Amino acid sequence: MKILAVESSCDETSVAVVECSDDGFVIKSNIVASQIETHRLYGGVVPEIASRAHIEAISGITYEALEVAGVTMADIDAVAVTKNPGLIGALLVGVNFAKSLAFAYGKPLIPVDHIKGHIAAAYLNTDGKELKPPFVALAASGGHTAIYLVSDYTDIKMVGTTRDDAIGESFDKIGRMIGIPYPAGAGFDALSREGFILATGDTSDFYSAYKKSDAYRDPEMRLPSPALNDGSLDFSFSGLKTAAINLLHKYEQKDIAVPRELFAARYTYEAVEAVAKKLGDALLRYPGYNLVVSGGVAANSHLRKRLSELAKSLCRELFIPPVSLCGDNAAMIAAAGYFEYKIGNLAGASLNASALDSL
Ligand code: KG4
Ligand code: ZN
Repeated sequence: MKILAVESSCDETSVAVVECSDDGFVIKSNIVASQIETHRLYGGVVPEIASRAHIEAISGITYEALEVAGVTMADIDAVAVTKNPGLIGALLVGVNFAKSLAFAYGKPLIPVDHIKGHIAAAYLNTDGKELKPPFVALAASGGHTAIYLVSDYTDIKMVGTTRDDAIGESFDKIGRMIGIPYPAGAGFDALSREGFILATGDTSDFYSAYKKSDAYRDPEMRLPSPALNDGSLDFSFSGLKTAAINLLHKYEQKDIAVPRELFAARYTYEAVEAVAKKLGDALLRYPGYNLVVSGGVAANSHLRKRLSELAKSLCRELFIPPVSLCGDNAAMIAAAGYFEYKIGNLAGASLNASALDSL
């Protein structure tokens, strides 16, 4: 069946057409209109501006998604839409647009949880490997750092989460303080790479070599781990963020320029190691389960490498979507929507958006 999906939970308007079946998914189109340039001026997403930009973009993008896929609404079997969590004004644009589309063309409407969407991105491209629940999944994005137990395609429960800030949000905020434009994730990734290489003199295996470097032992650069030490699968990224801000202030007070690369490397190392620690604990709790890593932060090159080593050491398979499908996009909403459709989870005209998590 062909699903047309709509995603508008944050600062990307996206519409996709995906051919969905039990044998797999074929992305016919996946148009993403990013508002990043608009929000960069303010150093973060301005919700009201995001809503307005979604309204301006959504209709044109839908025409484009149909055209690129080479189909018309007559060929579409169902409309899927992100209904939560996210910015409420932004979500409402997508939900109302999808409702109108489904009503006008007499198509079933599928409500989709954004996090289920991120996890379902892993089904879109499995590199020839077979991905089937049960598995453990990490969703790491601007708003989430959570570990899920995926018992079945639609049966997903959170087993660990951040008690405060999300990992992506912390990269964005600290990145901004060292002059990386919003969203700072990709810039942070690149700067950290330079820092790891500088610290180790190793241009290939720098992440593994980092712990033995002098830079790692430098007391001036010490930062706390965001992995909570209480037997849970939870994180606290605000502690790491505050310690990093204090570290930057100390350099400022002494009127010394902070070694940005080494600082970024140290910050990334603590963030990535914490995620690896908690995912390792989760995988030991669920023997034999494979690992899915999703969300915008899954694009991080150091995280990808570290988690692939973790999975290998525990004899598990790791599934991470290609970088183009890690960030917000509608193809992942179509994939998650397919599984909801199969269990008859459909919505009517009363469907409403919600800012809140539901997993
Ligand atoms: O999933 P996503 O596109 O939107 C949300 O649902 O939040 O994630 C966006 C987040 C931003 O915080 C961005 O800085 C981060 O993903 N990000 C990265 C990288 N690329 C994007 N973080 C670390 N390393 C990256 N390479
Ligand atoms: Zn997202």
